[in-house]
Amino acid sequence: MMNALNSKTVHDVIGIGFGPSNLALAIALEELTHSEGRSLNSVFIEKQADYRWHGNTLVGGSEMQISFLKDLVSLRNPSSPYSFVNYLHRHGRLVDFINLGTFYPSRMEFNDYLCWVAGHFNSQAHYGEEVLRIEPINVGSEVDHLRVVSRDQQGREHARYARAVVVSSGGTPRIVEPFNELMGDPRVFHHAQYLSQVSSLPCAAGKPTRVAIVGSGQSAAEAFMDLHASYPCARVDMIVRGSALKPADDTPFVNDIFSPAYTDLVFDQPPQERRKLLQEYHNTNYSVVDPQLIERIYGILYQQKVSGDLRHNVLCRQQIDSARTTDQGIELMLHDLATDDRRQHRYDAVILATGYERRSHRDLLAPVEQHLKQFDVDRHYRALASPDLKAAVFLQGFCEASHGLSDTLLSVLPARSEEIGRALYALSETRRLEQPLAALAGI
Ligand SMILES: Cc1cc2nc3c(=O)[nH]c(=O)nc-3n(C[C@H](O)[C@H](O)[C@H](O)COP(=O)(O)OP(=O)(O)OC[C@H]3O[C@@H](n4cnc5c(N)ncnc54)[C@H](O)[C@@H]3O)c2cc1C
Ligand SMILES: NC(=O)c1ccc[n+]([C@@H]2O[C@H](COP(=O)([O-])OP(=O)(O)OC[C@H]3O[C@@H](n4cnc5c(N)ncnc54)[C@H](OP(=O)(O)O)[C@@H]3O)[C@@H](O)[C@H]2O)c1
Repeated sequence: MMNALNSKTVHDVIGIGFGPSNLALAIALEELTHSEGRSLNSVFIEKQADYRWHGNTLVGGSEMQISFLKDLVSLRNPSSPYSFVNYLHRHGRLVDFINLGTFYPSRMEFNDYLCWVAGHFNSQAHYGEEVLRIEPINVGSEVDHLRVVSRDQQGREHARYARAVVVSSGGTPRIVEPFNELMGDPRVFHHAQYLSQVSSLPCAAGKPTRVAIVGSGQSAAEAFMDLHASYPCARVDMIVRGSALKPADDTPFVNDIFSPAYTDLVFDQPPQERRKLLQEYHNTNYSVVDPQLIERIYGILYQQKVSGDLRHNVLCRQQIDSARTTDQGIELMLHDLATDDRRQHRYDAVILATGYERRSHRDLLAPVEQHLKQFDVDRHYRALASPDLKAAVFLQGFCEASHGLSDTLLSVLPARSEEIGRALYALSETRRLEQPLAALAGI
């Protein structure tokens, strides 16, 4: 049953998801309140019961892949109270962090930083509600505003209204063939569920467990390390379809592609050139592993050869032809792409570290899709739309094709959130000026 929560309020903006992207937006909007002399009425809806940043992947030893200086705000406003440095200061760890001598805090600590920032915006955040769809509300022949329908953890539906939405709902675990049919089995799971699922595997109770990890990106490598270090009874095969584990290019000239200024460069290219840039720098982010982690994994495999206890394998050039579950385990038919040999392997668990898709915005916005131009956006992340869509749709994390590889990362959050924040203020000003005209026209 629909609960018409705040049914009379039309917010200036509703943010869908309260991950780092919309958290950065909340900070930017607060800053703009001071410079614009008025505030926008904004709320954020988050499906998790409380703030967590990829919580099921926060294993010990997992480090940030970006400098702590690229936090939610410092690149725009280094004197903001929401900087990582201020977080350290407030928690009495600034000196100790300096002594660590690193730019790359643990992801657990960065998660704690994000939770701390999010705590400052509790009054705007609605946790434990999953947005189901975003619907058009017509006034005359125009879509004047949008209805955001969510479901809380008790199964009740809520409706909220807004003149703009910022959809920042993140990636969706990519489930690949031949595993789609097996996903109901708790022994087969995506890396996004790693911590909660691994705790119910036999190795968590000290029993021998054969685990396959599918993929050769950072997630796969971190799962391998965690199983090796935390679960002595786990024997792991990392199943890689490429020819080797490859390093992430994090060198300084290349790293320029993650600077805010680079967004303009990418956006100003024709579509074909944008695609070429994404392809050229694919190995900064996808299907690659931090070079130090590669060396540690190699070291573990080498040490096995010394001791003769061949506990783990990294199996390269392997295509998974088929998978089936039995009471005895999960049987994978591996096809060696170099030799053309096929061998069956049996595991007690399979972890799909197969990356993420970026499509949740399409599902959420399906009811307004007819007004949108294929989910393409302008430079300030507003979805291009037909003139009858007066309400605005902004996208964060779904614009890699037009804005470059930083779009799914933390790199440009301070700049992007300000750009969207300013666009929201401009929109609200336009709508304010139009109101008297609408009243005159009797709308
Ligand atoms: C394991 C892992 C580690 C990473 N580490 C780094 C790193 O070190 N550096 C880096 O730059 N990038 C990293 N990334 C990339 C990552 O995308 C960004 O760090 C960042 O999380 C993007 O923020 P976001 O808010 O756009 O998306 P997300 O962080 O994915 O947040 C989306 C939020 O929306 C919520 N949500 C989703 N659907 C709904 C719905 N229907 N209704 C309500 N709420 C919803 C989710 O619960 C989530 O809280 C990592 C990614 C992963 C998977
Ligand atoms: N510490 C950290 O900061 C941290 C930790 C984890 C993740 N991340 C970030 O999260 C993002 C995603 O990383 P990720 O490792 O989850 O994903 P990813 O880099 O996209 O890697 C996905 C892997 O899955 C493989 N794969 C995809 N489809 C497959 C199929 N059908 N069959 C077999 N293999 C398949 C890919 O193989 P191919 O190479 O053959 O395509 C690739 O090796 C990145 O931005 C990464 O930096 C960061």
